[in-house]
Amino acid sequence: MKVDSVFITGANRGIGLEFVRQFSLLKDAPRLIFATYRNPETIQDLKAIQDSSSKSRVILIKMDVNEEEDRDIAKQIVEENVGDKGLTLLINNAGMAQLMAFPSLTAENLEVHFKTNAVAPILLLQTLFPLLETAASASNSSEMSASRAMVLNITSMAGSIERTGKELKMDLVVPGYKMSKAAFNMGMRVIAANVKDKGVLVVNMCPGWVKTDMGGHERAMLTVEESISTMLKTLGELNDTHHGTFMDRSANLYPF
Ligand SMILES: NC(=O)c1ccc[n+]([C@@H]2O[C@H](COP(=O)([O-])OP(=O)(O)OC[C@H]3O[C@@H](n4cnc5c(N)ncnc54)[C@H](OP(=O)(O)O)[C@@H]3O)[C@@H](O)[C@H]2O)c1
Repeated sequence: MKVDSVFITGANRGIGLEFVRQFSLLKDAPRLIFATYRNPETIQDLKAIQDSSSKSRVILIKMDVNEEEDRDIAKQIVEENVGDKGLTLLINNAGMAQLMAFPSLTAENLEVHFKTNAVAPILLLQTLFPLLETAASASNSSEMSASRAMVLNITSMAGSIERTGKELKMDLVVPGYKMSKAAFNMGMRVIAANVKDKGVLVVNMCPGWVKTDMGGHERAMLTVEESISTMLKTLGELNDTHHGTFMDRSANLYPF
């Protein structure tokens, strides 16, 4: 896999930060890594990667995914840097989860999940899509792949409607999160169908249960190193047959 440029949302901590770190250390590291954050007081770890990265230029972008103006400014920054090559890979990683179960749900809780986890990444993709199309057209390959042009959506098994109530039941305490990830998956499935002739691969992937602030540092099964190294390996193997699918980090399909 040779990704020329990657744009990662929510990159100041957790899964997003580890994506930046591991991409910057790849043998064939991207030329450009765009890493977004919200709060400048939280970017010490990102800055350390930026300073030590010898193969990739790491460009930090302040962006709240819910803010249209931030998304537009991010597009301008990417455009100025990628030029005719376009943007190769967008990783929609930023997300949030707040415990709140039925029958104590509030509109605010449901809406903030929906906005951040489903609406924002879809609007961000819409904003950056012309740059992904440029990368797809500029590529020598006619096959879909992460090296040509791709959107990797970091979703969750919790968004599987089919599995809900059958296996892991502990996620029943985050219905807002589950609803938002199901909507995210559906939105990206629709977009995948819309863009199937554009050369931009669209995949929804669950990283597993990972030791982060969201996953829980004590209880979760996987370290960020394990989860992201597996996802990077899988990323290099994805092709047209995976377009529009919902999978785990090793490309095993999940039911929507
Ligand atoms: N950890 C798991 O077990 C697990 C399992 C399945 C799926 N996932 C998914 O993996 C992704 C990353 O999760 P994580 O475990 O790394 O969580 P995390 O440690 O809580 O990090 C979440 C990241 O998203 C950012 N973010 C949240 N709201 C944002 C907004 N409105 N605008 C911009 N950035 C925002 C956060 O920025 P701030 O620092 O500014 O808050 C932070 O960088 C999420 O989409 C999550 O649903 C995680």
